[in-house]
Amino acid sequence: MSQSLLSNKKIILGVTGSIALYKACEWVRNFQKNGADLQVIMTTSAQEFVSPLSFAALSGNKVFLDMFDPEEAESIPHIQLGQTCDLMLIAPATAQTIARLAHGLADDLLSTVVLAATCPVLICPAMNSKMYLNPATQANLQKLRNYGYTIIEPDSGEMACGDTGPGRLPEWEPVYENVLSALLPQDYADQQIVVTAGPTQEPLDPVRFLSNRSSGKMGYAIAKAARRRGAKVTLISGPSSLPSPAGITVKKVKTAQEMYDETFLHYEQASIIIKAAAVSDYRPEECQAEKIKKGADKEEISLVANQDILKALGAHKASKSPHQPLLIGFAAESSRHFEEGQRKLQEKNLDMIVINDIKGKKTGFESDTNKVTLLDSNGAKEELPLLSKDETAMRILDKILSLKQTVG
Ligand SMILES: Cc1cc2nc3c(=O)[nH]c(=O)nc-3n(C[C@H](O)[C@H](O)[C@H](O)COP(=O)(O)O)c2cc1C
Repeated sequence: MSQSLLSNKKIILGVTGSIALYKACEWVRNFQKNGADLQVIMTTSAQEFVSPLSFAALSGNKVFLDMFDPEEAESIPHIQLGQTCDLMLIAPATAQTIARLAHGLADDLLSTVVLAATCPVLICPAMNSKMYLNPATQANLQKLRNYGYTIIEPDSGEMACGDTGPGRLPEWEPVYENVLSALLPQDYADQQIVVTAGPTQEPLDPVRFLSNRSSGKMGYAIAKAARRRGAKVTLISGPSSLPSPAGITVKKVKTAQEMYDETFLHYEQASIIIKAAAVSDYRPEECQAEKIKKGADKEEISLVANQDILKALGAHKASKSPHQPLLIGFAAESSRHFEEGQRKLQEKNLDMIVINDIKGKKTGFESDTNKVTLLDSNGAKEELPLLSKDETAMRILDKILSLKQTVG
């Protein structure tokens, strides 16, 4: 079944002597939940804050502490470790360790491993804001950027010592995003992607609306996956409880008309438009100014059709537009999936359609997994297995990229 995005990835977490170290304990769990094989290196100062036993128990692996460990002498860990892993994350990184790395010192295991590493190295500075803003620390960080290391900006706020300012260890989410970007090919770096997601809400009166069960999970997963692969992403989202993803421009809309307007507003800038939103086909003909009162045994609501956004985009592309983004649609079907998908692909002038079985047990609306079929305008059909929505998004993006190479 579904794998996690860090499956088979070997990651080294280097932890140093910062008061924020306790947060890294939870990150070990997060890495594991996402499938990573994690190994921890601790500096001597780090061991003053948390026992190596905690990291050994949490990671399920031996924790590396000492360059001169006779038990490990044969494997030469100070050279081996950084050359056999996919990524190193130093979090929290103290001013001391940052200075060591900036000057190429190799006087402890962690700095020596980094010096010999051939994988991407990500560094999360965490320290008092005055230490962080000190020109010496800033110059050291700049040196590390110039050497090709990724510095993940610290958060700003109140510190353990009571000072306020930049220097706090960031939350897991942006760190995880940086880790994924560092591990994934940046094959979307030249692309400007517009993704629509979530349901729409069509107002009936001041308290009620017509909507659907879309959670936005699939569209948000695609937006995040594209961002992780280097794209500039605009996410046009109907009402969804999902948090706005980091590094993505999010435009919130409610009605189908608002989604239509916002999508066309971004048409010219998009190289790829992916319409994963579940747009209401109909809206109440009138939105009542006052709340509809209880009383009558039967109440009829007259509905009128909304514009089909995807069809309008396809028609716009087919007619006059000199700008020709790739158009990708979604079809949520409960029966005759393939035939319906085929019809929509042609009728709406799409480059590809993603057919979703909304009746499946672990697929479609609200679910964290999905099983989709990809149909493209060249007639190729690909059925994907049941995967997490994150992985489905990756596979959809793989397909879109190969399509882009054939249709331009
Ligand atoms: C209670 C306490 C908290 C500390 N927190 C930090 C911190 O958040 N960031 C930092 O750069 N140094 C901090 N230090 C200082 C480092 O532990 C010290 O510079 C040490 O030499 C770092 O060594 P290392 O980089 O090898 O782990 C703290 C020290 C103490 C006693």
